[in-house]
Amino acid sequence: MKGLVLSGGTGSRLRPITYTSAKQLVPIANKPILFYGLESLARAGVVEVAVVVGDTAPEVIAALGDGSAFGLKLTYLHQSAPLGLAHCVRIAAEYLGDDDFVMYLGDNFILNGVEQFIQSFRERDASVAAQILLAKVSDPQRFGVAVLDESGRVTKLIEKPKSPPSDLALVGVYLFDKSIHAAVNAIDPSSRGELEITDALDWLLDRGANVRSAIVEGYWKDLGEPEALLDGNRLALDGVEPSLKGTVDSASRVEGRVSIDEGAAIVNSLVRGPAIIGAGTRVVDSFIGPYTSVGPGCEILQSEIEYSIVLADSHVHDIVRLEGSILGKGVRVTRRKVRPSASRLVIGDNSVVEIHRS
Ligand code: DAU
Repeated sequence: MKGLVLSGGTGSRLRPITYTSAKQLVPIANKPILFYGLESLARAGVVEVAVVVGDTAPEVIAALGDGSAFGLKLTYLHQSAPLGLAHCVRIAAEYLGDDDFVMYLGDNFILNGVEQFIQSFRERDASVAAQILLAKVSDPQRFGVAVLDESGRVTKLIEKPKSPPSDLALVGVYLFDKSIHAAVNAIDPSSRGELEITDALDWLLDRGANVRSAIVEGYWKDLGEPEALLDGNRLALDGVEPSLKGTVDSASRVEGRVSIDEGAAIVNSLVRGPAIIGAGTRVVDSFIGPYTSVGPGCEILQSEIEYSIVLADSHVHDIVRLEGSILGKGVRVTRRKVRPSASRLVIGDNSVVEIHRS
């Protein structure tokens, strides 16, 4: 069994964070989303994995290297433009050969991993050509949607339907045997100009193929939007191992599930977990509340932050208080002390700033 991990695309719904960072590398609980998927593939015994990369290739390759840190052998496949999930299978055809493979969308976060799902495909009966993973959602028009018959067999798949025929969304993990290659070569681009994997699966279904489905156990999110990112961060922090590698002075308190990385210093502050404080970060005269990830190299001074994600090298000074916020890398949020008493903003395109009236 090989792996095909998709880490191309544009990440437009996560702008401005993704102007400077691949969306699959945005961290939750201080770890890039993509790492969770790769670790799960490694645990499932998949070793050879191709990673599809696009415009953000240099950054993705720098983060993953040859894969040995994950116990994987990685090969990179360059995609000229995000032409669709089935296009990714097309460009991987030579690499995949006749092997079974798992295709994993790099922005999907599946809390319990995909080991069981992969194992059940290994043990399938020979008639099964593909296996998809489904989850009940309240907004199926945002996803690929599956229609099942009374016996639970997949009969149809539709990409982002305006009037969804069911509330069963396709989760971004698919298992295929070699028959998918003929399907991705047979289909044409959809109205949005992409080669859709749902159309390829539908092509197989029309020819009588047995496509099996399973419902995802536990939490799953496609971390394409800010709210989902915060929610994924919350869930990931619930699983963080408490540890203290940095320092906490005697005037500070650390409560609950908290990880404080090497060189981090907590001074005259309260950190209430679940929370993670990255390496070298200084938290001084501040409160870090539940479900907050502060990246490495940050300074949080005289401030209060809760249910938020702060990326590396950011600086928050004299702010009471931030909630439900995502700060990018190297961001500075400070209080203005000079007249006039107005806010001064230097922010990138598509940023969102909600200033509380005080
Ligand atoms: O997350 C689940 C959903 O993922 C499914 O329900 C949909 O059926 C499926 O089409 C997909 O929808 P999205 O609109 O969320 O796909 P997105 O364009 O965000 O791409 C998913 C991942 O694959 C993302 O990490 C970028 C990468 N990708 C995407 C395309 C279209 C590529 O590497 N190359 C591509 O050409």
